[in-house]
Amino acid sequence: MTDAATDPATDPAALDRQLAEAAARFGTPAYVYATDEIEARLAHLRAHLGRWFAVSFAVKSNPNPALLDWMRGRLDYLDISSGGEFALSREAGWDAAKVSFTGPAKRDAELRPAIGAGLGELVLESLREARLADAIAAELGRVQPVLIRIAPARVPKGFGDQMAGRPSPFGIDVEDAAEILPQIAALPNLRIIGLHIYSGTQCLKPEAICENWRIFMQVFSDTCAALDLNPEKLIFGAGLGIPYHPGDSALDLAAIAAEIGPELDAFAAQFPATRLVLELGRYLVGPAGRFLTRVVSVKQSRGTRIAICDGGLNGNLAASGNFGMVLRRNYVMHRVGGDENGARPEEKQDISGPLCTSIDKLGGSVALPRLEEGDLIAIHACGAYGPTASPLHFISHPTPVEVLVTGGQMRDVTRIRDR
Ligand SMILES: Cc1ncc(COP(=O)(O)O)c(C=O)c1O
Repeated sequence: MTDAATDPATDPAALDRQLAEAAARFGTPAYVYATDEIEARLAHLRAHLGRWFAVSFAVKSNPNPALLDWMRGRLDYLDISSGGEFALSREAGWDAAKVSFTGPAKRDAELRPAIGAGLGELVLESLREARLADAIAAELGRVQPVLIRIAPARVPKGFGDQMAGRPSPFGIDVEDAAEILPQIAALPNLRIIGLHIYSGTQCLKPEAICENWRIFMQVFSDTCAALDLNPEKLIFGAGLGIPYHPGDSALDLAAIAAEIGPELDAFAAQFPATRLVLELGRYLVGPAGRFLTRVVSVKQSRGTRIAICDGGLNGNLAASGNFGMVLRRNYVMHRVGGDENGARPEEKQDISGPLCTSIDKLGGSVALPRLEEGDLIAIHACGAYGPTASPLHFISHPTPVEVLVTGGQMRDVTRIRDR
């Protein structure tokens, strides 16, 4: 860990030195991920919620192999959602037994290698998938442990995206469970070891998170009673959100623990032999990553100053507001180097990327020191759903580099490299 006075997580000048060095050494556009910050976030999570929960990292949020390797031994489990993510987690050295596999459209060609390699749990999302997995497990001479994903009837208000509580491709609707689950339980080459719920993401309201987990506990209790199941694992799809936009506040984990703690204690007492697991991605890695884009050109257009940058939505779809945001809002961002002691007075400017489309906009009317060609802009909270959630090849500009910073040491860990 770095000294608090020179810690980029708390000292803006130290952060700027780190970001400027990363851009100078590795070029732009670039993602810079700080493992010290992830470590601190994990410690914070475990301090408040570790009494009840183990932690599983959703690889979809950041599948960078160097990051997955760093996580080995620090996190309890991985959750993957494709054969490709399974291969990445194996290449990063993860034991297949610590990996769970979610996703609503799993195919034979991805189930077979995962089941064959000793996948920890297959998270079943339908009867079709259960029958397919049963047949594959039979052929491979295995009995595959499975979790059944249930889609609750309700998701409280306050989640950025909802995967249940309405028609949804994910999991088995709770109202159909009584009919479908016994059919899964009867399949000879699958062994139901628990249940899984992931019904909402990106929530910043402690009371909505607690209300959601209450729904989970009720569904888990009812379903286990109906199936006469003594579960080994119950997965709580966490939904923990992070601040992206100016004015957002960080989620208060202490408030969550205080409100729901007694109910979790009672629930854990009801299931003494069960491992409760929080499955999440962005909470751990999102705030620990910044996206660096450099101003290539500045245009004064009909009263608006527009900084046109080398990295835009092709490298960072989420920051452009086109990845599941209803109304585009600016991410928090700053000019690396600040206002140069007042030499660059702040003004409202637009930030756009290099693409020939008006949706390639990373900021509208952002108050930043007056931008000039060559300036470096850092967009915050970009450690999750970065390159993996971006149309990297659109218009064939260079893809972003990925830089991993650990204790002041930087290395290029780019996964998809074209330069
Ligand atoms: C099944 C499942 N697990 C985990 C996650 C991770 O969500 P987040 O990154 O918001 O924690 C998602 C996100 O969509 C998901 O669908």
